[in-house]
Amino acid sequence: MSHETLLLGQTLWFEGNALTQGVETARHHRRGGVLIRGGKIADRGDAEALQKSYPQAEILDYGAHLITAGFVDAHMHYPQTRMIASWGKRLIDWLNTYTFPEEMTLADPAEARARADLTLDLALAHGTTSLCSFTTIHPCSVDGFFDAAAARGMRVFAGKTCMDRNAPEGLRDTAQSAYDDSKALLARWHGKGRAEYVITPRFSPTSTPEQLAALGTLWAEHPECLMQTHLSEQTDEIEWVHSLFPDCVDYLQTYEKYGLLGERGLYGHAIHLTDRERARLREVGAAVVHCPTSNTFIGSGLFDMAGLAADELRIGLATDTGGGSNFSMLRTMAAAYEIGQLRGTALHPAQLMYLATEGSARALKAEDRIGTLAIGSEADITVLDLASTYAIEQRYARAETFYEALFPTIMMGDDRAIADVWVGGVQAERKLA
Ligand code: GUN
Ligand code: ZN
Repeated sequence: MSHETLLLGQTLWFEGNALTQGVETARHHRRGGVLIRGGKIADRGDAEALQKSYPQAEILDYGAHLITAGFVDAHMHYPQTRMIASWGKRLIDWLNTYTFPEEMTLADPAEARARADLTLDLALAHGTTSLCSFTTIHPCSVDGFFDAAAARGMRVFAGKTCMDRNAPEGLRDTAQSAYDDSKALLARWHGKGRAEYVITPRFSPTSTPEQLAALGTLWAEHPECLMQTHLSEQTDEIEWVHSLFPDCVDYLQTYEKYGLLGERGLYGHAIHLTDRERARLREVGAAVVHCPTSNTFIGSGLFDMAGLAADELRIGLATDTGGGSNFSMLRTMAAAYEIGQLRGTALHPAQLMYLATEGSARALKAEDRIGTLAIGSEADITVLDLASTYAIEQRYARAETFYEALFPTIMMGDDRAIADVWVGGVQAERKLA
């Protein structure tokens, strides 16, 4: 019998889509447990029953802390970690002023690895166990990220960011090199340990039609891979796309035309969508990723969560650091709540937790591996202290229901709320916690 660990505490998981099927899909145990065996979740349920069934298991009792699936950040840019919270610009100026010079530094493999180490340590400190990241045009930025993730045992998703125009000298590839490098990196990394390769054209303005077509060809050759990009984040950006692709009726068509629209496609932001774009995303079963702290920070707009959920699109939640202004998925949930309020929809705490875990995992087509506490899933687990600061604790103390006790941590919590993190069934070393 291999080693078994039984985590006890409050537990929260979902049996259905909390966003579309409602809060009734959430299962909360005031005294629950999760059994870990061989890096996976082997059982879950009521604490007492689990203790009876597995008397030999090593017990870790978290008391009133909340055991949840580890957070999944479905869209972020690890090269931008050091330039988070850069002041005063909107998307295009922000890219040119802050982002591109910073991304240039990842030409150096040692820099790339150091940036990846820093980012993944920050992620674990904030209870994020999986991320889907953009990199830079440099192949070494992909190697650095996957090596750093492997050293921590994390399931991560990433690919070479491709751009062959409208970017400075030193930060452009070509249609051919984007195809060749992406293909080689895909062969090297996809399915190696917990790495998943994602074909990554940055966004239409920085790719020529030839490059988009080359990456569309690569995706057709590797339909098992995800493809990630950006879509309709700011109105100025959309105008620019129209001028660059005059023969396309809308932004989404610039991807569709070159084979970059599909069920395994992840479209970041997706704020200012036309009816046609929404219909096409829905028809192909694509996923969109909501990046709320980024959308307010760069001034992009208000994501239509209720409308897109009603369309039954898969929706992930993400920090989008460094356009996003925080590494924490708790703060990201809070921002999603606030944007919902501005649009007249109050997302329930259970729906916010669902988005940050299973919702993101479903967007990544990885819900059979991460983002849930389901039996058979990889044991990536975050344990939340629901009374981590004085401000939170004084509100928590007055709560009459579980969700009233959880919501102050969603709204005010940060890395201090992360009591423990498990990655692949191993208690994570949290260097920056
Ligand atoms: N659109 C294209 N590149 C980026 C990026 O790095 N961040 C954000 N927020 N939007 C983008
Ligand atoms: Zn982004």
